[in-house]
Amino acid sequence: MSILKLENITRDFYDGRQIRRVLHSTNLAFIPGELVVLSGPSGSGKTTLLSIMGLVLKPSEGKIYLNDKDLTQINDNEAAMLRLKYYGFIFQQHMLIEGLSVIDNILLAYAVQGSKVTAQQRQKAYGLLEKLGLKDTAHMQPLSLSGGMKQRVSIARALIKDPLILLCDEPTASLDAENGITVMKILKKSALEDQRIVLVVSHDSRVFPFSDRLIKIENGKIVSDTKENYQ
Ligand SMILES: Nc1ncnc2c1ncn2[C@@H]1O[C@H](COP(=O)(O)OP(=O)(O)OP(=O)(O)O)[C@@H](O)[C@H]1O
Ligand SMILES: [Mg+2]
Repeated sequence: MSILKLENITRDFYDGRQIRRVLHSTNLAFIPGELVVLSGPSGSGKTTLLSIMGLVLKPSEGKIYLNDKDLTQINDNEAAMLRLKYYGFIFQQHMLIEGLSVIDNILLAYAVQGSKVTAQQRQKAYGLLEKLGLKDTAHMQPLSLSGGMKQRVSIARALIKDPLILLCDEPTASLDAENGITVMKILKKSALEDQRIVLVVSHDSRVFPFSDRLIKIENGKIVSDTKENYQ
């Protein structure tokens, strides 16, 4: 089984005056199939931890493993390749590209790899849109969609390449309650049915009921890590 593992990970930042430890020694392992929520106050280190897991930020110390492969010493190019192959990202802001239709935004993941988009890939993108209730938006511009719809398009974009690991930073923060619930249901389903590692960073307690596991972080330290059955 695929496992993403962090071993004694720390991260220091220079805050303009001194070096400050914003993430203290952290040990975590993630397996496919569960939706993990990482929660904590503003500034507690959630995005820092997510960025390290996403190979976007290097830890100051410690090791990160994917399927027993040590990724600690990889260079930026290798990190970028691994992100393309194994990762999907969803952010608070949808980050869709205006001027490209919804379907082209989703297919962009293939375009950046330099290969021509195949009919099969296009079909897959349409299938995802349908699954996410966005069938009629394929040829619309992101600008003309509601906030909830845009966020669902960004989920489709993150899922198009079947990532093993889906990292979501405050995916519901700019959504109303109903759209927030829709997004969480989609993410939960994707974790279980498609056997992904799904990590949702949020300080929105409305997402807790969707978690299989809730990790709490305060001042750069994991203070609890519980498997809970909320529903
Ligand atoms: N590039 C950076 N340079 C210096 N300090 C940083 C940097 N990135 C983050 N920090 C500091 O690290 C700490 C943790 O930041 P982080 O963004 O991980 O918090 P967070 O839990 O995601 O907060 P929020 O809920 O507000 O998004 C904060 O004190 C922040 O100021
Ligand atoms: Mg953050």
